[in-house]
Amino acid sequence: MTDYLTKLFIDGTWQDAAAGETFPVLDPATGLEIARVADANADDMTRAIDGAEAAQPAWAALPALERSKIIRRAAEIARADIQRLAEVMTAEHGKPVAQSIGELNYGLDFLEWFAEEGRRTYGTTVPSTGPDKRITAIRQAAGVSVAITPWNFPSLQILRKLGAALAAGCSMVVKPAALTPISALEIGRFFAEAGLPAGVLQVVTSSKASRVSPTIMADSRVRVLSFTGSTEVGKILMREGAATMKRLSLELGGHAPFIVFDDADVDHALEQLVAVKMRNMGQTCVSANRIFVQRGIAPEFTRRLVERLSAMPIGLGSEEGVEVGPLIEDAAVQKVEAHVADAVASGASVATGGKRPTHESLANGHFYEPTVLTGVTDDMLVARDETFGPVAPIFEFDTEEEVVRRANNSPYGLAAYFFTRDVNRVVRVSEALQYGTVGANDGTISAVQAPFGGVKESGIGREGGHWGMEEYMDTKYISLAGLTRP
Ligand code: SIN
Repeated sequence: MTDYLTKLFIDGTWQDAAAGETFPVLDPATGLEIARVADANADDMTRAIDGAEAAQPAWAALPALERSKIIRRAAEIARADIQRLAEVMTAEHGKPVAQSIGELNYGLDFLEWFAEEGRRTYGTTVPSTGPDKRITAIRQAAGVSVAITPWNFPSLQILRKLGAALAAGCSMVVKPAALTPISALEIGRFFAEAGLPAGVLQVVTSSKASRVSPTIMADSRVRVLSFTGSTEVGKILMREGAATMKRLSLELGGHAPFIVFDDADVDHALEQLVAVKMRNMGQTCVSANRIFVQRGIAPEFTRRLVERLSAMPIGLGSEEGVEVGPLIEDAAVQKVEAHVADAVASGASVATGGKRPTHESLANGHFYEPTVLTGVTDDMLVARDETFGPVAPIFEFDTEEEVVRRANNSPYGLAAYFFTRDVNRVVRVSEALQYGTVGANDGTISAVQAPFGGVKESGIGREGGHWGMEEYMDTKYISLAGLTRP
């Protein structure tokens, strides 16, 4: 059996939970337990925040170049170990190993980006009101930060928060998802090996957020909370964060429209759709959820999409050549089933998929076939709620004005995509879509240097690029008076 990390990473040491409790981590492809991990409670979280508070001032006081070197070294160590790290991720998450490697590389790119960006957190000198005064604005680390992260990208979601926080001079307590805690502990390991001072990064695993999140939310020493997860939980954290006026960075749910106009490069649109729909088996908040195809090209586009998705090999993520792994847990499959059943009951048709695979080697895993639905309308569940699975519902439309209105008809505003060859339409539609992130002829929008984030109920704040640093920094205005001249 693989030797997985299972203890809390607090103050640079591996510790059991205070109460000695543990919880199981299951392989979603087989349903088998792969490890038991320390189950932290409020005492453990307080200890982690104590350590993060103690370590933060010295970390912030290090020259940015020294912080940068440690962050870069951590990325180098992880890249040298990427195959093993990817296998750990696949064991607890299920995604094909090639996708785990892709996720890790992308996450480590964030570390390298922020290691450099941390050296450019410039201040400003502002013309003052008199010869005896000087006005400057400097940027300083906000203090202790906490990241509460989801299971869909077990490393990436941590690394892009952590890179920014560390580069800014903050310490960070990471509370990873209960379904994928081991990849988070591995991050503790490679940062320790890189020489990160004890306490600057704490990884606190817990079976339920409710065991530790009241402690985080009540503690006034936690100045920044970065959360990726559901809109429902984001709203609760926003209410609870008000008590200590925490700075919040919230990356919440999405319900991305993917629009194909009849003047688009259809081959390219199809490639991009397959990539953005099937990455992570559809379990991303930027996944194409509502696929709007202009009526004249819809039958041919659908036929080709069916051809592509039905040919994708399903299986254990650890097997060579597999492109579609399991969903994270049975509840996720049940949600997909409910969405498909609702659509079919309301008149939609299943063009491919629409069920769990029947192959006996997959019987104990949480698999669902890549699915295309046709005849879908805006009142069905798939049109209103994030499916978070490998389902591609095709909505037909007639005009630009109509599709923009329908695409915007959602409380979410994270990512949207559209495909057209008309440059005037590119400008019009990019500006009209009420989304924080828009892919114009692009379904693969993720980039370390870009400001990723949502509007409306998809969240507040941005991750990536120089915007990502702002979440972890305060601006301080210094007014110096009484200067004299000889
Ligand atoms: C997500 O947060 O689900 C998407 C992450 C990304 O594509 O960068």
